[in-house]
Amino acid sequence: MTNKLKFFIGNWKMFGDFGDYKIIKRINFFANRSRKLRKKMKIILCVPNTLIYYFQKKIKSRFISLGVQNCHHYENYGPYTGSISASMLKKAGAKYVILGHSENRHEGDTNKIIKKKILSALNQKLYVIFCIGETFDEKKRKKTFNVLKKQIKNCIEKKFNSNRILIAYEPVWSIGSNKVPKVNELQIIINYIKSYYRNIFRTKKIPKILYGGSVNHKNIRSFSSISGLDGFLIGGASRSSKKFIDILINYYK
Ligand code: PGA
Repeated sequence: MTNKLKFFIGNWKMFGDFGDYKIIKRINFFANRSRKLRKKMKIILCVPNTLIYYFQKKIKSRFISLGVQNCHHYENYGPYTGSISASMLKKAGAKYVILGHSENRHEGDTNKIIKKKILSALNQKLYVIFCIGETFDEKKRKKTFNVLKKQIKNCIEKKFNSNRILIAYEPVWSIGSNKVPKVNELQIIINYIKSYYRNIFRTKKIPKILYGGSVNHKNIRSFSSISGLDGFLIGGASRSSKKFIDILINYYK
């Protein structure tokens, strides 16, 4: 395992209430205590929009950054009933935003819309956690690489600041299913994403690459042998401080 900084990003999805700042407090307490570990890990929790302002006022943590899980593609204010823009989220305290999650793609987000969202988030100096991944059917039909290629090509442009983008590979079939890719398959995909990005944009500046989908304290250790993997996007297990902390502990065991 390298000493490079690893990202552990929680995606709370549509869960969470005001009292759940305690979850963050406990994770913060753990990070504060773990002097050795905390230099190696970057913790980000992406919470519902309703909680971001309250949490960032309530918890001043040097070790945990807060983010949200989506934004509208229009960057500022506009006549979009029920929507929230990147600038509004930024003002409320978000530093990161998850975009392109398969649950949002399922509800209608196309690559074209996701690209606009990424651009508006980057303009607002938010960090973007850009999700890509194939469905089970696409995997069966051996379309994984094609799908990933299209998602990257149609959502990102060379001029986008790659320092502010993290790509999360999240196979749709692994989300909330307790199924994870085999380590060797995942290694191949991580390598593929990097080399495709390098080639298509003719650049050496490649975003950080994360894995997401049913990550838990039992399987986390198996991912530590994958080279070039910069961290994890963690759904269900990020809603419990114990499960999240156990992931951190077990990864570095
Ligand atoms: P999961 O979700 O860890 O619960 O599978 C991951 C995600 O949807 O980002």
